[in-house]
Amino acid sequence: MPAASQQAPDARVIIIDNHGNSQRGKPHHVPRKLAAFALCLLLPLSMSAPQIPNLNTLRRGGGRGRLRGRGGAGTGTSSDHGAAAKDRVVQGTDNDASVSRLSAVELGYLDDPFARALTASGPGTRRFPIINRGTYVRTTAIDNLVNRFLEPDGQPPRKKQIISLGAGSDTRVFRLLSSRPSLELVYHELDFAVNTAAKIKAIRSTPLLQKTLRVEKPEDLSISAEGDALHTPFYHIHPIDLRSLTKPAASSDSPAEAPSPLPGVDTTLPTLLISECCLVYLSPTEAADVVTYFTRTLFSPSSSAAPAPPTPTTPTQTSPSPATPPISTAPPTTSTVPLSLILYEPIRPDDPFGKTMVSNLAARGIHLQTLHRYATLGAQRQRLREQGFDSGQGAADVDFIWERWISEQEKERVAGLEMLDEVEEWKLLARHYCVAWGWRDGDARRGEYDGVFNAWRDVEAQEGD
Ligand SMILES: C[S@@+](CC[C@H](N)C(=O)[O-])C[C@H]1O[C@@H](n2cnc3c(N)ncnc32)[C@H](O)[C@@H]1O
Repeated sequence: MPAASQQAPDARVIIIDNHGNSQRGKPHHVPRKLAAFALCLLLPLSMSAPQIPNLNTLRRGGGRGRLRGRGGAGTGTSSDHGAAAKDRVVQGTDNDASVSRLSAVELGYLDDPFARALTASGPGTRRFPIINRGTYVRTTAIDNLVNRFLEPDGQPPRKKQIISLGAGSDTRVFRLLSSRPSLELVYHELDFAVNTAAKIKAIRSTPLLQKTLRVEKPEDLSISAEGDALHTPFYHIHPIDLRSLTKPAASSDSPAEAPSPLPGVDTTLPTLLISECCLVYLSPTEAADVVTYFTRTLFSPSSSAAPAPPTPTTPTQTSPSPATPPISTAPPTTSTVPLSLILYEPIRPDDPFGKTMVSNLAARGIHLQTLHRYATLGAQRQRLREQGFDSGQGAADVDFIWERWISEQEKERVAGLEMLDEVEEWKLLARHYCVAWGWRDGDARRGEYDGVFNAWRDVEAQEGD
């Protein structure tokens, strides 16, 4: 769920009643919590447009030091109003996501020993109960789908791959590697360089994170000179603006000669793409192009490169930039690699509650076109189908997931952690976020890729829009 400032200052206050109708009113706890409704945007309601780049100055107890040096704490000059300033706002949302995660961990919603190390130190992490519950449901739902992707599928054990778009400070790779020591997994994280550099800095200063990454020998780890790219045999952090994936490399006359923008990606492995509140920041065309890059260019349905033979890499802590592991160069074979996508996004911008969110964001110069394009569960399913995940699709809002995916016993445990007295408010909020998932099976004629997504077929999806 969204991360939001617990202490969002109140200025332009909008009250949402239990029917989702809004009205202007006096400061009240409901609108303060509604700051959460800006979800991944996480902009306090009172923020005015010129303040947008200065997220840190606006967040008491929510804005953390991490933004310093990451572009999040802009200087407020006129140049901040350009595209770079918008990017800084988007980059800064990672800070809110990690603070919300830590809040949910510290209150017992989630068990995550890595959240603290990947959240910048600062005062006050505590979020409102509905935000904590939302973070819990969001994380648990995606974990469920990830675990089902990774579980044995009736075939001999095989390596699988996860590519997380806009991963920010996400802890999932650490949780997976620590809970499943024998897991055969290659994990990639993509984000802007300013965010990848911050994460790598945290890894370098935290023995627990290094140990979990199974970095035993110096030669197992290479980090670019800029400190923003990291490669180990199992884990890769790529500093990249996703929008650049679909643009031809400027450095090369021939696209065929251009270095891979994502070194270490193995295009022969069953692969799961995750966009946890990332693609929504792109325009619909950009978001679609990014997904198409994976479905049609990197993991082309008609051919895939065989794995590259292992080649030696420079065994250093800090290698020449960029740190580049071997890329797949063997001749293509004809097969279709199983590929899937999990999305976590806001939905339903057109009901009274959604309209309030949209107008609050618009007042700050933020127009989430992708939210309008994929406004319903049905639109999310269709999006997945049209983008090539044609073997199966499902979607469910957070309210449904809480009700139907979480066991009664677990719901009781979570409900006992904090008093959540406005159940209607929770339901209203939770109906405006969804998880959607879709997959394309392997080539059944070849047999070796059968069944990777069998466990997803049993996941209870929500009908209708
Ligand atoms: C709300 S945060 C979510 C972080 C993480 N997925 C999580 O759920 O904890 C959104 C992330 O997407 C990243 N992001 C958004 N647009 C991006 C782009 N064009 N290229 C790379 N990363 C992007 C941001 O930098 C930020 O880290």
